[in-house]
Amino acid sequence: MKALILSGGRGTRLRPLTHTTAKQLIPVANKPILFFVLEQVRAAGIDDIGIIISPETGQNVRDTVGDGSRWGARITYILQDTPGGLAHAVKTAREFLNDSPFLMFLGDNLIQGGVEGLVRAFNDAGVDALIQLKKVPDPRQFGVAVLDERDRVVQLIEKPQNPPSDLALVGIYLFSPVVHRAIDRIKPSWRGELEITDAIQELIHMGHRVEARVLSGWWLDTGKKDDILEANRVVLDEYARRDIRGEVDGGSQVVGRVEIGTGSRVVNSLVRGPVVIGSNVTVIDSFIGPYTAIAGGSHLERVSLEHSVLLENCRLVDVERIEDSLVGSNTRVCRSTARRRALRLFVGDDAEVVI
Ligand code: G1P
Repeated sequence: MKALILSGGRGTRLRPLTHTTAKQLIPVANKPILFFVLEQVRAAGIDDIGIIISPETGQNVRDTVGDGSRWGARITYILQDTPGGLAHAVKTAREFLNDSPFLMFLGDNLIQGGVEGLVRAFNDAGVDALIQLKKVPDPRQFGVAVLDERDRVVQLIEKPQNPPSDLALVGIYLFSPVVHRAIDRIKPSWRGELEITDAIQELIHMGHRVEARVLSGWWLDTGKKDDILEANRVVLDEYARRDIRGEVDGGSQVVGRVEIGTGSRVVNSLVRGPVVIGSNVTVIDSFIGPYTAIAGGSHLERVSLEHSVLLENCRLVDVERIEDSLVGSNTRVCRSTARRRALRLFVGDDAEVVI
């Protein structure tokens, strides 16, 4: 069994962060989403992993992930030169996949409990495709599946206006090599992409067995700012533990599941978990509230921050209350001492400021 992780795309819905980084590398709880995906793939016993990359962010992904040895995996990078869709990505990876069955995993998706059970179910069921589904309140923005009473998939539609069910396709699939023949038979969709959803529908037309499992735990699809904050909240809730390596002075209180990295200092502050603070961070005269992740190298002074994600080397000084925020690396937010009170902004392309 091989794995194909998709880490291409332009991440337009996550600009400005994706001007400088791949969306799959944006951290939740101070760890790139793609690393969680790699861990889940490895936990399912798969070590031969192909990663689809795009010309825009491919180098960034290669530099960050490397050769896979830190996960005990062998990684092959596969360049998809145009964003032609998920089935096009599989086509591009044909040589790597060869005639192996494979797990396909969208690199910005995460599910509770990992994929070990799904991989086992695929091997036991002897089907040509096994798809992971999740009940969602509004399925129109996803691929949607209809099942019969034995959990066989009878119909699949990509982003339907009138969804025939509330079961969305989570971006995690298992395929036998027969999927390549189905992909060869499909045409681009209305959005000009070769859809994996259409390829699975084609497998059904061709008379192959397609089954599904419905996920009861959480599913995170981290395509937009609020999704990242939600993913950060859920992951901190589940994985944060108390691990204080940095210094906490006598005037500070650190409550609950809080991680503080080496070389970090908390001075005269209150930190209420779940919170993760990276290494070499200083927090002075501040309040850090639940569901906050602060990446390494940041400096916070007289700040109140809650339910937010801060990337590396930020500087926040004299800001009373920040919530629900996603702040890119090397950002400075401070209060002016000038008598004429005004907002003075130096904000990158595609940023959003809510006052
Ligand atoms: C893709 C798939 C869709 C699936 C979704 C999950 O959509 O085409 O079927 O439900 O991922 O994240 P996209 O992210 O390309 O809009």
